[in-house]
Amino acid sequence: MRTTPLLFTSLDLRGVHLKNRIVLSPMLTYSGHGGHVNDWHFTHLGKYAISGVGLFFVESTNVDAAGCTTSSDLGLWADDFIAPFKRIVDFAHRYGAAIGIQLGHSGRKAASGTPWERSPAGEGSKLLKGLQRVDNTGPWELVAPSALAHAAGHPVPRALSVNEIHQLADAWGQAAARAEHAGFDVVEVHAGHGYLIHQFLSPKANRRNDEYGGTLQARMRFGLEVADEVRRHWPENKPLFFRISAVDDSGLTIEDSVAFSTALKTKGVDVIDCSSAGMATDNSHLLAHLRYGYQVPYARQVRAEAGIKTMAVGLIIHADHAEQILQSGSADLVALGRELMHNPNWPIDAALKLGRKASAAGLPQAYGYWLDKRAAAAFGGTPSTFRIGMEPEQMERVKLE
Ligand SMILES: Cc1cc2nc3c(=O)[nH]c(=O)nc-3n(C[C@H](O)[C@H](O)[C@H](O)COP(=O)(O)O)c2cc1C
Repeated sequence: MRTTPLLFTSLDLRGVHLKNRIVLSPMLTYSGHGGHVNDWHFTHLGKYAISGVGLFFVESTNVDAAGCTTSSDLGLWADDFIAPFKRIVDFAHRYGAAIGIQLGHSGRKAASGTPWERSPAGEGSKLLKGLQRVDNTGPWELVAPSALAHAAGHPVPRALSVNEIHQLADAWGQAAARAEHAGFDVVEVHAGHGYLIHQFLSPKANRRNDEYGGTLQARMRFGLEVADEVRRHWPENKPLFFRISAVDDSGLTIEDSVAFSTALKTKGVDVIDCSSAGMATDNSHLLAHLRYGYQVPYARQVRAEAGIKTMAVGLIIHADHAEQILQSGSADLVALGRELMHNPNWPIDAALKLGRKASAAGLPQAYGYWLDKRAAAAFGGTPSTFRIGMEPEQMERVKLE
């Protein structure tokens, strides 16, 4: 019988060591100013550095100011964004957590209000009127593969020229280089949720008749060029993730996603993060059918058929469910979003629930030392058989720093 739950086994991706398989999914917090992180982000993200997760992601961060979903989004389109990120990254590393950043561009879904500012569906983009770009360089113009609005009532974007498409792929590469300067362990490219790369993939949003539109091969081209550019600027010894909408509400099928993932693998992508949807404004029909682990089958199929590591996400709440997803071979990593928002210390709870009796969820000793003692007192055993704190070697490292 397995003594260590798979959830608490480590995973080495290229040169990056994840102490366990628990990941904080990227989540926009709409708290930036001019694209910059501030104390909110340090506190919010710093919490996950000491919570026991193996890897946590900074929210979708824009490679170009025009790609911000809202004016409170984060950016990495210039060098002066690097230093404040580095402070968060250094903090994560001090406590043995790996940290990733998701790099995105919202395309025709940019320049909207925050969810709590938006009026009923379809009216959020009214905020666009007269809005300046986040970098204050002029009016905020939407761009997309084709001049087609996200939905009725939304502004019509301008179709990108081929030259601009190349510039955007390059912007992803430049942002990846800045992520490396900040010391991030993982870059994830956001290619789902109806944003720019997904817009190129979609037969509905992409009606181009040049080499970037038409067949699936042509619609995949932009995403693959982004992968190339990011790989060119992102070190060989660091892993690259892609988040995809494995199926959507505009005709993209799981077979298309398997084909895209297979091609991404040849570009040096290491993990496919399998989400879904985002092309439609009204997703109430999808929301009505959400169940625990509703996207896990996509991670399973991509993993089996594209032969690439996957991350499962979406209503994964319970430790035994997370463990079962890994045990059944559906995914290599389990990402939690709102559950970790609800309980940042979920890994500690999961360790106990899975009967963890040896070795660590990877907590700093400021927590782990006391929680080990409490576990021993409450549940029997000795602290050494009930470790939920850091491994001794890790403690040594922290003490030395
Ligand atoms: C407030 C909020 C912000 C989100 N922002 C992002 C984001 O920046 N990038 C992304 O790929 N997904 C984003 N998502 C989706 C989550 O990463 C996750 O896939 C989704 O919430 C489902 O997982 P959960 O049920 O564990 O929350 C966001 C979700 C929420 C609730």
